[in-house]
Amino acid sequence: MAARAATNSRAGSSAERPGNSAPAQAAGIELRGVARRFVNPAGVAFTALRNFTLTVKPGEFCAIVGPTGCGKSTTLGMVSGLDRPSAGTLTVGGRVVDGVTPGTGFVFQSDALMPWKTVVNNVMMGPVFAGVSKREAQARARDWLRRVGLSGFEDHYPHQLSGGMRKRVSLAAALITEPSVLLMDEPFGALDVQTKAIMSNELLTLWEQSRPTVMFITHDLEEAIALADKVVVVTASPGTVKATYSVDLPRPRGAVQEIRFGDRFRDLHHQIWESLREEVERAYARTAASAASREEQP
Ligand SMILES: Nc1ncnc2c1ncn2[C@@H]1O[C@H](COP(=O)(O)OP(=O)(O)O)[C@@H](O)[C@H]1O
Ligand SMILES: [Mg+2]
Repeated sequence: MAARAATNSRAGSSAERPGNSAPAQAAGIELRGVARRFVNPAGVAFTALRNFTLTVKPGEFCAIVGPTGCGKSTTLGMVSGLDRPSAGTLTVGGRVVDGVTPGTGFVFQSDALMPWKTVVNNVMMGPVFAGVSKREAQARARDWLRRVGLSGFEDHYPHQLSGGMRKRVSLAAALITEPSVLLMDEPFGALDVQTKAIMSNELLTLWEQSRPTVMFITHDLEEAIALADKVVVVTASPGTVKATYSVDLPRPRGAVQEIRFGDRFRDLHHQIWESLREEVERAYARTAASAASREEQP
């Protein structure tokens, strides 16, 4: 299985994916003037995203930060193909997204594992759905579980694992399909600081092996800088791209716990935090104001 990963790895991953064959290589993501409006049950329209323009190059690791409610998850939902823009264009691998985007892997904050299936059965689901024989899928799943440090836990059920271990299972389940695009929505948000650091390191190692295009949402700026090639700051709602920062820290980066003490890291952190803080404060002030006005009403 290691050989399979090696053949699909790095070489040529920055090239455009040819034709419409199965997406083995990383695909770029392009949002141009994307808006998303929702209509609430009372018929009132609400703009969650406006004029959102962002390019994530093939194989690039892009982190997105912004205050709660600014539309980060909405953006990811559209890239995944589970949701549609109200305006603007969205392409993945040069093709307009009009259904669940093929070759996409997801990791969400809540681990979307099937509680009634064992760990190995959870991880092998992707390949089985893709038509791989059960025997082969199981062998691949065992290999992926080994890579994420879970050998010996194949036959456990999700509830028998810690939060960090479940996260590893989710990561293995997403990566086993060798996705060309990996979408992650605050995947490590619920973990304690140490486990989070371990998971970040594991993610970096795995990403460096096969280089899928990544959109990684986080509220943790240190995590964003440690992992990403670029960090995108989204404004308070309605969300739009406020600024993009290129993270010029060399790769491989080594342990995320250590690089955050470097001068360049601190520099970047300071700069990006200034930009992000304004938006967080704006979002907070708005929430506080609307809570106060609700309290005034009988
Ligand atoms: N399906 C929906 N219907 C109505 N409003 C929604 C829906 N999904 C998200 N929203 C609203 O859009 C805004 C952005 O949400 P979301 O993308 O989840 O923010 P974030 O992930 O940045 O915290 C929020 O105000 C949220 O309430
Ligand atoms: Mg969200």
